Amino acid sequence: MSTTEEVEALKLLFRNQYSFLISKIMFTASDLGVFDLLMESKEPLTSVSIAERLSTSPFGMERLLDVCVGLKFLQVERKGNQTLYGNTDLANLYLGKRSPKTQYYSMKFNAEFVYTRAQHLADSVREGEAQTYRLSDISTKDFYEAMYRSESSLREFMEFMHEMWSLCGRDVLNAFDLSNFPLVCDLGGCSGALAKEYISLYPNSTVTILDLPEVVETGKKHFVSSEEHRITFHKGDAFKDPIPEADLYILVRTLHCFSEEKCVQLLTRLHKACKPGGGVLVVEIVLNEDRTGPFEAHIYGLVMLLVTQGKERTPSEYNALLSAAGFKDIQQKKAILFDAILGRK
Ligand SMILES: C[S@@+](CC[C@H](N)C(=O)[O-])C[C@H]1O[C@@H](n2cnc3c(N)ncnc32)[C@H](O)[C@@H]1O
Repeated sequence: MSTTEEVEALKLLFRNQYSFLISKIMFTASDLGVFDLLMESKEPLTSVSIAERLSTSPFGMERLLDVCVGLKFLQVERKGNQTLYGNTDLANLYLGKRSPKTQYYSMKFNAEFVYTRAQHLADSVREGEAQTYRLSDISTKDFYEAMYRSESSLREFMEFMHEMWSLCGRDVLNAFDLSNFPLVCDLGGCSGALAKEYISLYPNSTVTILDLPEVVETGKKHFVSSEEHRITFHKGDAFKDPIPEADLYILVRTLHCFSEEKCVQLLTRLHKACKPGGGVLVVEIVLNEDRTGPFEAHIYGLVMLLVTQGKERTPSEYNALLSAAGFKDIQQKKAILFDAILGRK
């Protein structure tokens, strides 16, 4: 290694060793209200003033603000002997709790829920499964049972799921022309974020969200208003209960929660219920065929190992799952972050 290469290697080593802190820093600054305060103040503020308004120590706040500058969440300007902090565009758009495209619940889920499970990564690797039951307060191995055990954690999970589709929903649905599928069932449709995008893109469509009973209750109460009458909820267990008839079944970030066996079982049930000429639309972050990336698929894959029985898959693995269930003419298109895979009956 040349000296320059060695310096770069050492920097990378240092950065990687501490990178778990980045998630914590981003979430902590958001949770304390730093980004909201700077968004609403309309002018940059000193660390002392930020600390005072957010009731923290000036000493701790200055450390947090400085690292946020290094991470490009904040920017600084100097006026006389004052250092003034302001949001970057990234923070204004995504990091405040009240940002227009806030990712607050996504940051919270990762910095708290995934973070605690990551303490057992070695156990998950050794045993090839989630280690939820090792956490003292949870005895179940089932991710959804753990997540949905209180109304507040269920609601937070649904907010987290919801946030993604304000960023990528339209793009994912535009990957294929779906105008020939007016009757849609979004299986595991959760808060209805993608269903809302679907009905606004296709004005003649109706979407039924099939999800577990507690999700449906919370979805009706907090996420989909009764005026949005083209979206209906259907309570059920997709592995056991009858599947509503539809032209198109949507499975978004759902197959990656399940083993091969369960995916084929679920897809086969959908194939049976599907109207002739209908199809299934799978949306996932897909691995490159040679499994070399993308980074997002590797990270999602690891999160799945920590919390579910599922994994991310390659195009040919998805192809095999859909084919085993009887779907044909399988096509795959790249969207932002996610891939859309359409199979037909
Ligand atoms: C990872 S979330 C994805 C949510 C949503 N599709 C999205 O991407 O925002 C998986 C969804 O599947 C639902 N689900 C899990 N097991 C299910 C089952 N047996 N029957 C119906 N829905 C289920 C969960 O409640 C959850 O809403």
